[in-house]
Amino acid sequence: MKGIILAGGSGTRLRPLTGTLSKQILPVYDKPMIYYPLSVLMLAGVREILLISSRDHSEMFRTLLGDGSRLGLRIEYAEQDRPNGIAEALIIGEDFVGDDQVALVLGDNIFHGPRFSALLGDAYRELDGCALFGYRVSDPQRYAVGETDRAGRLLSLEEKPAKPKSNLAVTGLYMYGNDVLKIARTLAPSARGELEITDVNKVYLAQGRARLTELGRGFAWLDMGTHDSLLTAGQYVQLVEQRQGEWIACVEEVALNRGFITADQCYRLGVEMAGTAYGSYVQEIAGRGGALSPA
Ligand code: G1P
Repeated sequence: MKGIILAGGSGTRLRPLTGTLSKQILPVYDKPMIYYPLSVLMLAGVREILLISSRDHSEMFRTLLGDGSRLGLRIEYAEQDRPNGIAEALIIGEDFVGDDQVALVLGDNIFHGPRFSALLGDAYRELDGCALFGYRVSDPQRYAVGETDRAGRLLSLEEKPAKPKSNLAVTGLYMYGNDVLKIARTLAPSARGELEITDVNKVYLAQGRARLTELGRGFAWLDMGTHDSLLTAGQYVQLVEQRQGEWIACVEEVALNRGFITADQCYRLGVEMAGTAYGSYVQEIAGRGGALSPA
């Protein structure tokens, strides 16, 4: 399965923070925002990733992540000229995806919760059509909203409904079969002028091939569209990391755990960040993984 991270847009709601920086490179406590969705794809076992950003910001991401080889990944880059909608990522990424399945994640979504990689693995193994992930929120009208029956089957999907049929928001992580590339090509812009990912998902729903896995209580799903939600996300990460001593979205750790890099490689990445708590953590987990510290 290939992965796409959509890190486009000009971050107007986060001005002046986004005057020169991409929104998805802003700090969320101790790491750039992009680490969070990147770690989600890595947890799903995805190693070939296309990062789509606006033209102005592409270079920043290349400087930060390079070709991905340091994390045992292959990262390519593409540009979205205008914010034409999430589904456009599937058109921009068409050649990159090729004959494969694809996981798409939004660059400003944080997911954190128990047994997340197992849940992603199950969704991937059972993928036929599209896999969506739902989360109960108090303000569903801001999101795509799914309605399920008692057995958890998906009955309807609506983008930002004024009168939501449920409080189950559809999060910004999607897995698709290869036929999504064709479906994306058939879309017309919505009333807000965007190619809507919800329209893609509705095609699968109509075919009876859309599944929604609910991320239950005890799970955190955060998006970071405003100054307040950005700060809240940073505070959440700080709280969990300081309390548990386990880092969220430490991409070096995920790469090590998934076997994308060796413990020695991981250790070297930690040494490069020596003098920071993050660097010490990376060295520590590399040590636990059997890295030989230099004499
Ligand atoms: C987008 C999608 C929406 C989804 C949300 C998740 O919203 O259009 O379906 O629920 O991301 O973050 P937007 O960022 O366009 O408001």
